[in-house]
Amino acid sequence: MLVRILGSGAGGGFPQWNCNCSNCAGYRQGTIRAHARTQSSIAISPDGSKWMLGNASPDIRSQLAEFTAVHPRGAVRDCGIEAVVLIDSQLDHVTGLLSLRESHKPLKVYCTERTHEDLVSGFPLFSILEHYCRIDWQPVPVDETWMALDGIGGLSLVAIPLTSKPPPYSPHRQNTRPGDNIALLVKDDESGRTLFFAPGLGLMEQHLEAWMSDADCLLVDGTFWTDDEMQRQGAGQKRATEMGHLALSGPDGLIEQISRFSKPRKVLIHINNTNPILDEDSPQRSLLADKGIEVSFDGMEIEI
Ligand code: MLT
Ligand code: MN
Ligand code: ZN
Repeated sequence: MLVRILGSGAGGGFPQWNCNCSNCAGYRQGTIRAHARTQSSIAISPDGSKWMLGNASPDIRSQLAEFTAVHPRGAVRDCGIEAVVLIDSQLDHVTGLLSLRESHKPLKVYCTERTHEDLVSGFPLFSILEHYCRIDWQPVPVDETWMALDGIGGLSLVAIPLTSKPPPYSPHRQNTRPGDNIALLVKDDESGRTLFFAPGLGLMEQHLEAWMSDADCLLVDGTFWTDDEMQRQGAGQKRATEMGHLALSGPDGLIEQISRFSKPRKVLIHINNTNPILDEDSPQRSLLADKGIEVSFDGMEIEI
């Protein structure tokens, strides 16, 4: 199975258009060693020719321009993307679908019933897109069972419900239910190898342990270093946990949590522009290196 990191940043990307935090300013002024990042999205393929997107970021146009494997080859209108799977209905994970409205075939979108509800109500993206191209919604159950992806033969998935919230615009923001946010386990049917994908992981829940420890690769939440990072940087009031992200550092942080799993390759994605790990010369970045945890970057390719 091949995984291409289309975008490795969190909402806003890096640098963020209106941000003057030490990272964004340092990047613009050339005073830190760091790479710009678009908003997070991945592409997964069993064979390198047909691909499934994991989330559709608002930066999709530039991401696909760089991604030659999906460029048109045959017919006048052609693309290697066969399907899209959404982990929730956050704006930075779904608005890329608007830029796929020229699609020459119905857009096959896998998501839970809860995510679908948001996308036909609070943010009626699917209803709007119906006027441009058909949406072929494929409901994803959240009962932690294997589901064959008919839209892209050779891959199966398990959706694992996460305790988190739907986005601020959602009519059921205060009425959280399983399926608002999910982690994905994607399996290559031929090799049996698996990817655990969770760009928003707010809590290390018991039911995740077995899936994570047995996965071949973890591609997980690298949003924040500390829970109060936004406040520390003067960039906002919200804590990481309130936004559905478990901070990387600290005794119960994500680094410690995933370090317990010896089997999987460990890679971080969805890195917020305030996170000190973006500075490649930072002590935080070298701590990750010591722990054998990689930081994904735009254009990175992972073979699983
Ligand atoms: C998230 O996944 O928490 C988002 O990046 C927040 C957002 O910018 O919409
Ligand atoms: Mn996000
Ligand atoms: Zn910033």
